[in-house]
Amino acid sequence: MDATVPDVNVVRIAVDLAGRAPSVHNSQPWHWTYSNGRLDLHTERARLLPEADPSGRQLVISCGAALHHLEAALTTLRWATDVERFPDGTNSDHLATLRFHRDAHPAAHDFDLLAAIRHRHSDRRPFGPIGAGHRLPSALPDVVGGRAVRVTVLSADARPTLAAATRLTASARRYDAAYHAELYWWTGHFDPTGGIPPEALATAENRSHVDIGRGFPDGLDDDSVEETDKSTVLVLSTDADHRPDWLQVGETLSLVLLEATIDGLATCPLTHLTELRQSRDMVRELIPEGGFPQVLIRVGVATSERVPRQTPRRPTGSALSVTPRPLRP
Ligand SMILES: Cc1cc2nc3c(=O)[nH]c(=O)nc-3n(C[C@H](O)[C@H](O)[C@H](O)COP(=O)(O)O)c2cc1C
Repeated sequence: MDATVPDVNVVRIAVDLAGRAPSVHNSQPWHWTYSNGRLDLHTERARLLPEADPSGRQLVISCGAALHHLEAALTTLRWATDVERFPDGTNSDHLATLRFHRDAHPAAHDFDLLAAIRHRHSDRRPFGPIGAGHRLPSALPDVVGGRAVRVTVLSADARPTLAAATRLTASARRYDAAYHAELYWWTGHFDPTGGIPPEALATAENRSHVDIGRGFPDGLDDDSVEETDKSTVLVLSTDADHRPDWLQVGETLSLVLLEATIDGLATCPLTHLTELRQSRDMVRELIPEGGFPQVLIRVGVATSERVPRQTPRRPTGSALSVTPRPLRP
């Protein structure tokens, strides 16, 4: 075993945990390669959603979330990383190269993040309001400090605009057969390696209490929740709208979701509002600095003890290729 680079089994564990990252429609559009002590992250273009995400923006955001999950996992395995983002100027699908050094000293909070990776899930049911006992959203500036991605906490006054933008996207897509075929392909059948199973989607009853959710098919989650959604909505936005911005959005999304999970809060990312120009413009108007809204997050208190079923993941072996290191003479 070479003590200067992680053993392949350590990399497998980290990639497996990174695979728990959220991704648009649970498409998991990433591929890792481990060779000569170097780990590379590429997009997996075959997992692009051409209708919901023709530019690949959400594909890159999803990969950014996996990158942050991976680094968090590696820290608890005592490996620190130097991350070079977009290392190959001619290949924009090559998102990152990671090199390792063995000087991570995980703190208690790093293990909290690790536990959150295992427990976090998207919850599409109505949420109760965030009470005074929670760190978020007031701790957000500390949580995301120094990042180029802005996190805006919307006030309750913004809700009617978000609901109107949601209705607008639904009517613009009502007769978009290709969009609906794609949506139903990822959510309408059970796939043990990806997509969103019905048990992770809101029942029609629950959906009717969340006025800003994506129009998914009816699900089978816990139907005992009857209250109108009282979540707080966060918006992640950037000053520019290119691949490096998207990757950082994904990393920040992962961080905010994990910190909210540690704080005992339920979360759900929302992107239907950023997919069409008109609704994205409506969200932009709600951000004092303007810019490009990328992802919204509904955050609140789950009002039912029963958690929605965790979504399945691809086997780690299909998301990781390993080139064995030559044996030393
Ligand atoms: C870029 C991105 C976009 C997403 N958009 C939505 C969305 O519009 N509505 C929604 O309910 N969930 C959305 N999600 C959550 C995914 O559906 C979810 O992460 C995926 O199904 C895996 O499930 P999990 O988060 O429970 O692990 C999004 C996630 C990402 C990373």
